[in-house]
Amino acid sequence: MNTLVVYDSFSGNTEKVAQRIYETSAESLPSQIVKVNNDTDIDLSAHDLVFIGSAVINWLPTKTMTAFVQRTMKTANKQKRIKPAAPIIPGKFAVCFATFGGPHIGVGEAKPMTLWLRSALEHLGFIVLDEWHVPGQFSNRPELNQHGRLGNIEGRPDGHDLHDIENRVRGALASLSAWWE
Ligand SMILES: Cc1cc2nc3c(=O)[nH]c(=O)nc-3n(C[C@H](O)[C@H](O)[C@H](O)COP(=O)(O)O)c2cc1C
Repeated sequence: MNTLVVYDSFSGNTEKVAQRIYETSAESLPSQIVKVNNDTDIDLSAHDLVFIGSAVINWLPTKTMTAFVQRTMKTANKQKRIKPAAPIIPGKFAVCFATFGGPHIGVGEAKPMTLWLRSALEHLGFIVLDEWHVPGQFSNRPELNQHGRLGNIEGRPDGHDLHDIENRVRGALASLSAWWE
């Protein structure tokens, strides 16, 4: 069993989360980490456990992540891998993750994004184990960091958030032990 962490990040918050997922996974399994760009071309289905994540930008993934997912779906469609009922491919799992500021309505700003990623992975036949939403401070909007719906998110994701992510990765890997032990 191998894992892939694929993500996009502007100001580094999602990168911190992605890196911690990668480091934790790499302790036990062959693992790769990729930050998407406009040329990224990865076959997600070649990996057994995919962690896919993005910064939330206007309730959605970054444009680069959106374009990557759209390219992936287009290729899969051409190869006739998008089938009626989206048959589950045995042994293919995913987790979707976000960092977000939630200044106006809280986690409801992040859920549409991870649900969109989830939908793509499920179309490909993955079982999506979970969606993780981690507060991430705005790099240049102190008023949103201090007075938003989540309260004060300055400095997030912090050590506690990253420790929580590490634990979640361990939990996800433990749930799949039948596939890799
Ligand atoms: C242009 C822009 C738009 C954003 N839009 C939202 C949003 O709609 N909802 C939200 O919860 N956070 C929003 N954020 C906050 C980011 O999602 C948050 O700070 C995130 O952790 C940034 O991740 P990054 O450092 O990996 O780029 C926005 C940030 C920027 C810069």
